[in-house]
Amino acid sequence: MKQENQNAFGMIGLGTMGSNLLQNIADHSYNCAGYDNSIEKVNVLNALDNKNIQGFSNLKEFTDSLKSPKVVMMLVPAGEIVDNVIDELLAVLDKGDIIIDGGNSHYTDTERRYKELEGKGFHFVGMGVSGGEEGARRGPSMMPGGDEEAYEVLKPILEKIAAHVDSEPTVAFMGKGSAGHFVKMVHNGIEYAIMQLISESYEIMKKGLQMDNEEIHKVYKKWNEGRLKSYLLEITTDIFAYKNEGEENLLLDNIRDEAKAKGTGKWTSQAAMDLHLPTPVIDIAVSMRDLSSLKNLRVQASKIYPDLAEMHYSKSESDYCDQLEEAFYFAMVSAYAQGMHLLYQSNEEFKYNLNLDLIAKIWRGGCIIRSEFLEDIYAAFNKNPNLQHLLLDETVAGNLTKSIKSNRTVVSDAVLHGISTPAFSAALTYFDDFRSENMPTNLIQAQRDYFGSHTYELKAKEGVFHTKWVMENIKN
Ligand code: 6PG
Repeated sequence: MKQENQNAFGMIGLGTMGSNLLQNIADHSYNCAGYDNSIEKVNVLNALDNKNIQGFSNLKEFTDSLKSPKVVMMLVPAGEIVDNVIDELLAVLDKGDIIIDGGNSHYTDTERRYKELEGKGFHFVGMGVSGGEEGARRGPSMMPGGDEEAYEVLKPILEKIAAHVDSEPTVAFMGKGSAGHFVKMVHNGIEYAIMQLISESYEIMKKGLQMDNEEIHKVYKKWNEGRLKSYLLEITTDIFAYKNEGEENLLLDNIRDEAKAKGTGKWTSQAAMDLHLPTPVIDIAVSMRDLSSLKNLRVQASKIYPDLAEMHYSKSESDYCDQLEEAFYFAMVSAYAQGMHLLYQSNEEFKYNLNLDLIAKIWRGGCIIRSEFLEDIYAAFNKNPNLQHLLLDETVAGNLTKSIKSNRTVVSDAVLHGISTPAFSAALTYFDDFRSENMPTNLIQAQRDYFGSHTYELKAKEGVFHTKWVMENIKN
């Protein structure tokens, strides 16, 4: 039996993520402890018979097994449960101990907890963990924020258990307060956007080009061998090959088309709107998941408004798939650019002091949105740390310019054939306004002033102005 006070790391919440992360830590020769209020989960952990892991169902015994300063990570569902666990922990930890929240907590909760715990003399780290169950076991990407002094204590462990790209760990301190959870939230917003884009490309291939699953599988496989290489395309390729034993059809074809969400995508859009920072590709991805869940209404509407008579594109499949690849590239760049812009803006607003190049760097491995393109993002922000928007980087602009035409073709064909591609389209409209020196919003200002005396500014004169927009003054 192990001596007391020997464990270097404690985990609260022994679901698959918590258990896998503990096993990952134990693989690196750290003694660790796990706690859950479900005795079954503790038994499952102990049944692993890992000499470096001890499971506890008593919180005090669990914390007593940790060496000082005690490091306790929570991997429990976001929300009230986190506050409840923290309250319980405060009774059994000592000042100077470190509490890590590794769940997908809302950044405003993290900000509050950070301040409260700091006031009570505890170190708090809000840490985004990405990579799913497999990532937790083999190497996630981690986005810790909050107490930097505490991070220095955790660093040796986190750097070992993280994924590695070019021998560098995919973990780094993000910034103070809620920085880690803000970055993870934006990661998830981008995740939603890219998943939506992939599903739209599937719709185009299936309905527009009338390709079968095997052909679609080949396209995703090919894309994933080029500049679109990414974890999300890799798993999509696998999904297009997966059949349950003895079944003719892909499992995919038997899955209901109602997408669920735990909320981090919505939070990204909400945060972006609060900061007046446009992220339309992410926003539409959130809305389309919500629309997908209106199945009953969709079924009724499909009877009133059937598909257009001609959905089939009269185009050569292979040429068109090349164009689709370009359109996908264009829209994917836009999705990342919008997410990075939100991170830039959060620095302005919350003074996180985030390094956007560092974020791109630790997203290159372990996390769900890891992709080849993150190398370009990293290079852009590394070259110019003050870069305000990814689309202003010369290299990105050069590559993006080549794919604009294809996105226009893909979006316009889809519109004409009644195939819904809102994320491809949002990427394009965002781009067309982003590159406009003049937008038609002078008219909106005039209208606001007309009906509500909200005032406007003039091109040639400083100040704010109001006009009495009465008919006598208007020349026809
Ligand atoms: C990750 C993921 C993860 C997320 C799930 C489900 O980075 O490992 O982003 O944190 O919670 O993928 O998210 P939704 O249920 O909202 O799709």
